[in-house]
Amino acid sequence: MDKILVHGGNKLRGNVRISGSKNSALPILAATLLTKDPCTISNVPDLSDIHYMLQILSQLGASVERASGTVRTQAEEIKSEAPYDIVRKMRASVCVLGPLLGRMKEAIVSLPGGCIIGDRPIDLHIKGFEALGAKSVIDHGNVHLSATELRGAEISLRGKQGPTVLGTDNVMMAATLAKGTTIIDSAAAEPEVVDLANFLNKMGAKIEGAGTRRIVIEGVKELHGADHSVIPDRIEAGTYLVAGAMMGTEVRLQRANPEHLACVIAAVRESGYEVDTIADGVRVRGNGSPKPLRLTTEPYPGFPTDMQAQMCALLCQTSGISVITETVFPQRYMHVSELKRMGADITLEGQTAIIRGVPRLSGAPVMASDLRASAALVLAGLQAEGVTEVNRVYHIDRGYESIDEKLNALGARIERVKV
Ligand code: EPU
Repeated sequence: MDKILVHGGNKLRGNVRISGSKNSALPILAATLLTKDPCTISNVPDLSDIHYMLQILSQLGASVERASGTVRTQAEEIKSEAPYDIVRKMRASVCVLGPLLGRMKEAIVSLPGGCIIGDRPIDLHIKGFEALGAKSVIDHGNVHLSATELRGAEISLRGKQGPTVLGTDNVMMAATLAKGTTIIDSAAAEPEVVDLANFLNKMGAKIEGAGTRRIVIEGVKELHGADHSVIPDRIEAGTYLVAGAMMGTEVRLQRANPEHLACVIAAVRESGYEVDTIADGVRVRGNGSPKPLRLTTEPYPGFPTDMQAQMCALLCQTSGISVITETVFPQRYMHVSELKRMGADITLEGQTAIIRGVPRLSGAPVMASDLRASAALVLAGLQAEGVTEVNRVYHIDRGYESIDEKLNALGARIERVKV
């Protein structure tokens, strides 16, 4: 298991190229199961979660070839049961449910277990599949979906915490091959949902309204192969935006889409940093006297929950009192106790974190507990005095392509150590 040593205090300057989006690539790769034809997906990031998804596709019977960022798949004949051994490693495996149900009218996939960022039920996915006419049974730890045919329906996917991203993806994928029209109300509007809908439309699906709360899907008889390039990862970009604000004299995020980052850019600007749109992305410049913030995470286009931990790290050393409220995953605060070990002053009150800026953080051994929490610890380490040792780095490798190399190219000093 690798660990990362971050030597704090080094200024960052230069260009960082943003990789393809993990959360777009995962459902898009799953969607290739909807056709017998070959599909070519480019700008696929090299991440462990992507490797798991490719393994699931192979185990289901698809042929998969990968060459530097481009994946070719062909799912000529597939099974409808995904193997537990791989599925259990990644919660996003649930996004094969929709394509399997759509194409095979049956899907057997392990129920995702608990997750460190909170309870992550799939009741809304199931509700959507049932509305399309599927029966669902939970049996021996698996979700078993079956249908003689799928019929279009009007479905609301709004849960207690708002819309569901993978639930919207799943129901949209199954509905492409249903008879008649499906309307998803309270749909997730994340750019990753739009990217998936664009790919499905290239495959011959008839989807309108992706990116709004109401998606309309006209079912078709079959889908064909297509090529697609995955959008840039807005959360990876947001993470480097925060790094650039914290430590940057000037950092350029090449390929970052400023529109997808609007809320994050607005927050970083409000804190007093200079952020501009440039020809090939976004530029951020540090400044001497940042201001505290009040932030609430919300579904897109609101401030993303996947950037909450990184903003926490930024605000730890911003003088004054900042307040962050997490509404999407109310328990997603595992980074807080680790940041406190580095000297941060944070009080948790339910789903709200009250951050009193301190003049300095000091490097310490810390434990990563999930992907974005790990990113926050690396960011805090960039600013801290001395060395921060981030353990359990496999979490960060799930979602950040070569984070150590990318930050070192900007001037950071990060070592990856095999233990
Ligand atoms: N929810 C339900 N029932 C459901 C599904 C979700 O109550 O059937 C609740 C969840 O418990 C949560 C809220 O709805 O409180 C939103 O969850 P959502 O379903 O939108 O999350 P997800 O689709 O499972 C994706 C991303 C997450 C990201 C969330 C929210 C992927 C692979 N994952 O998860 O990304 O935090 O949307 O934007 O796309 C990450 O990349 O670090 C990550 C966790």
